[in-house]
Amino acid sequence: MNLETVLDVEHYSDALFSFKTTRGPDIRSFKAGQFTMIGMADDDILRAYSIASAPNEAHLEFLSIKVPGGPLTERLKDIQVGDQIEVGDRPTGTLVLDNLKPGKRLWCVATGTGLAPFLSIIRDRHTFERFEQVIVTHTVRATQELAYADLLSSLPIIYYPTVTREPFQTPGRITERIDSGALWSDLDLSPWSIVEDRVMICGSPEFNKDLRSRLEGLGFTHGTNRAPGEFVQERAFVMQRAG
Ligand code: A2P
Repeated sequence: MNLETVLDVEHYSDALFSFKTTRGPDIRSFKAGQFTMIGMADDDILRAYSIASAPNEAHLEFLSIKVPGGPLTERLKDIQVGDQIEVGDRPTGTLVLDNLKPGKRLWCVATGTGLAPFLSIIRDRHTFERFEQVIVTHTVRATQELAYADLLSSLPIIYYPTVTREPFQTPGRITERIDSGALWSDLDLSPWSIVEDRVMICGSPEFNKDLRSRLEGLGFTHGTNRAPGEFVQERAFVMQRAG
């Protein structure tokens, strides 16, 4: 673990915030989509956090929920610029493009803080060398949790936000919009095909399971480094928000 200095903190709601830290020379190189451990400087409690910054950026960036009474986030949410936090120096994880077979369209399907690894992926120019089209969907409870909407709207990707607990132009869970066909008609794109489409999934355990079963129903297989497939999800840790 390394001590890194907090460079910036942004709060989106009483449940969501992001922060940037320095990136010391000991943080080894990582692949877009990987995660590392985070903790308070004076505490042993560590949690896995996907890195939201690109592999070639000089700083590190993370997205976090605030869990009321949570052993780490109850303190982490109060960090200020200039504070020091512990950051693991060995990022790892399987939510990486290398675990996918070549394809035409890359779908990054996120709920909540599951957006973080996809921010790294779309900030990495290599992604656009591998795929002709990149689509990022982000489903959140409330509009103010649509973090990074400005960035996502400014990149050469298709950004498709959905909101489940407030009125919104594209309401409901992404799974519902897939099942109803609304996703494809809104974007004027054909439904997923095993030939062209590759899918990365990151969100709550229930969401991961629900999306995975839909993909497996289409014949998609989960990719690994040894045997790349048509979809990947991060199985090393869970992101669970109460309520
Ligand atoms: P919902 O409001 O219907 O629970 P969370 O903040 O709990 O991590 O959830 C983030 C978003 O993911 C919410 O909009 C939530 O919708 C949605 N969600 C939760 N479970 C699923 C699921 N199984 N499939 C699709 N979306 C889900």
